[in-house]
Amino acid sequence: MLGPGLIIGSRYEVVRLLGGGGMKQVWLARDLRLAGRSCALAAITDSFVDASARKQAELDFKREAELLASLSHEHIPQVYDAFSEANSHYLVMEFINGETLETRLQKSGGRLPESEALQIALQVSATLEYLHSLRPPVIYRDLKPSNLILKSSGRVMLIDFGIARHFQTTKTVTMVGTPGYAAPEQWRGKAEPRSDIYALGALLHQMVTARDPCSEPPCSFPPVRQIAPSCAPRLASLIDEALQYEPNLRIQSMSAVRSRLLEIRRAEGLATTKSFGADVECRQSDRASRGLCYCRRYCSRHLEQSLLLAAGRCSVASDRGNRRPLPRW
Ligand SMILES: Nc1ncnc2c1ncn2[C@@H]1O[C@H](COP(=O)(O)OP(=O)(O)OP(=O)(O)O)[C@@H](O)[C@H]1O
Ligand SMILES: [Mg+2]
Repeated sequence: MLGPGLIIGSRYEVVRLLGGGGMKQVWLARDLRLAGRSCALAAITDSFVDASARKQAELDFKREAELLASLSHEHIPQVYDAFSEANSHYLVMEFINGETLETRLQKSGGRLPESEALQIALQVSATLEYLHSLRPPVIYRDLKPSNLILKSSGRVMLIDFGIARHFQTTKTVTMVGTPGYAAPEQWRGKAEPRSDIYALGALLHQMVTARDPCSEPPCSFPPVRQIAPSCAPRLASLIDEALQYEPNLRIQSMSAVRSRLLEIRRAEGLATTKSFGADVECRQSDRASRGLCYCRRYCSRHLEQSLLLAAGRCSVASDRGNRRPLPRW
């Protein structure tokens, strides 16, 4: 087990644990060769008894690290280094400062305003579209709230490309993914680009309904508007379509998903939040032109909030998705 102060690979000084568990931990580290630049160090420990099996896993790990290092996308952390020492294996990558979507959902009572859910889904779909456009396509396979980091600038980053799986000794690894988000065909070891569409549907379903798919039987999503009747109909039907059990009945490509999301944002006139967190400024002109009150979500510090609440024009109910039109002010 690593700990603060330890130096790995004669180069990376461990600072503190960021997350992970089991065979993989992710640490914040400083690169001593590059002026102490912050980086994220994923440390994987294997338990192979067979030396040749370890050698094979190391080769697979290295090949995949090279593939990750060749990716170039603004929503994917850059890979800086990969190496193995004895039965420990390390991937060094860009450190992303922010909070995971999992934390964000916990803080907001499990649900996000539709415009924020759309903003996240748009960025994720652009990233997955890029991965699917590679030859051969890269299927992400493990989309879920703890694998997305929201930066305070509003940018969403996709982390965790499942590199630890090469060191798992059980042979159940054809099923890579997380119950609740993984598509039914993925359970049968048949992941394909449309499996990522299903997982994005699951993520959106959770963001707009507050229903946590991990606490429910796998692949059992009720239609969105059954749980969240106020959800924009076009968004609800996109989510329901993405969550079809049969891949042929889903939206067929990530670029089609992204176009639909863009269309919904335009049609619904949903405001784009510039950044995440409590310090987001409320853009009064957006609110005024829509005649809707977003202030509980987008501007927790907004001075008008208490006045609106007092006047009965802004309520927690509107905050929970039943947005009520407000007179223009
Ligand atoms: N590049 C990074 N920059 C900043 N934090 C990171 C980075 N990579 C991972 N983390 C943090 O470490 C946590 C665990 O990382 P990762 O998802 O790769 O491992 P995991 O074992 O699959 O964990 P989980 O099951 O929670 O997804 C993340 O949820 C995030 O908080
Ligand atoms: Mg993860």
